[in-house]
Amino acid sequence: MERLETADLVLRPPVEEDAAAAYELLNDPDVKLWNPGGECPDLDAAAAWCRSGADWSGGTHATFHAVDPDTGAMLGNVSLFAIDTDDRVAKIGYRVLPSARGRGVARQMVDAVTTWAFESRGLMRVQLEHSVLNLASCRVAEAAGFGYEGTARSAYAVPGSDDREDCHIHGRLPGDPGLGGI
Ligand SMILES: CC(C)(COP(=O)(O)OP(=O)(O)OC[C@H]1O[C@@H](n2cnc3c(N)ncnc32)[C@H](O)[C@@H]1OP(=O)(O)O)[C@@H](O)C(=O)NCCC(=O)NCCS
Repeated sequence: MERLETADLVLRPPVEEDAAAAYELLNDPDVKLWNPGGECPDLDAAAAWCRSGADWSGGTHATFHAVDPDTGAMLGNVSLFAIDTDDRVAKIGYRVLPSARGRGVARQMVDAVTTWAFESRGLMRVQLEHSVLNLASCRVAEAAGFGYEGTARSAYAVPGSDDREDCHIHGRLPGDPGLGGI
């Protein structure tokens, strides 16, 4: 099992024991607005979502859960997705439990998984996209070494409405400085 460490976190693939935290995460209003993970009506659905995240066999995603190193409690979810091994590119998405926000969980997860993607998976580019209205996500991107590259017009379909929003495109390449400029 892949296991990554950051200053404050351990990252490992999802396990069914994460279901209660995953249920809370998927039903959080900000997650539903900015990075919905599908309907999650109960703990069984949350456990199934964790099992799906742990199944990397298709080769198109690598999903980790960040946990507190002391308690093992799940704090966040980060996924390298749309992995294309021919072009050696992928995208990255993330979500943090409301109680764990504002203390660097997202930026540490994104930085660690991106570094792993370059060093262990041989990728040459990871792309990060967020609605221009998602200011916290923009801060995460910049802090984790994903420079702003442009704005994709009308790229985000706002869940549950006909509204569309523009998206920032950020990218990081091997050799770009990551978290803390390293
Ligand atoms: C976006 C999200 C992942 C951030 O997680 P986090 O662990 O709190 O992120 P970090 O602590 O690493 O950094 C958060 C940054 O956003 C800033 N921030 C938080 N809320 C903000 C707001 N409303 N406006 C502007 N900046 C905001 C914080 O100040 C911090 O930046 P700073 O350290 O430069 O001051 C989390 O809020 C979340 O899960 N949101 C819902 C899902 C989501 O938006 N996912 C990303 C989709 S692209």
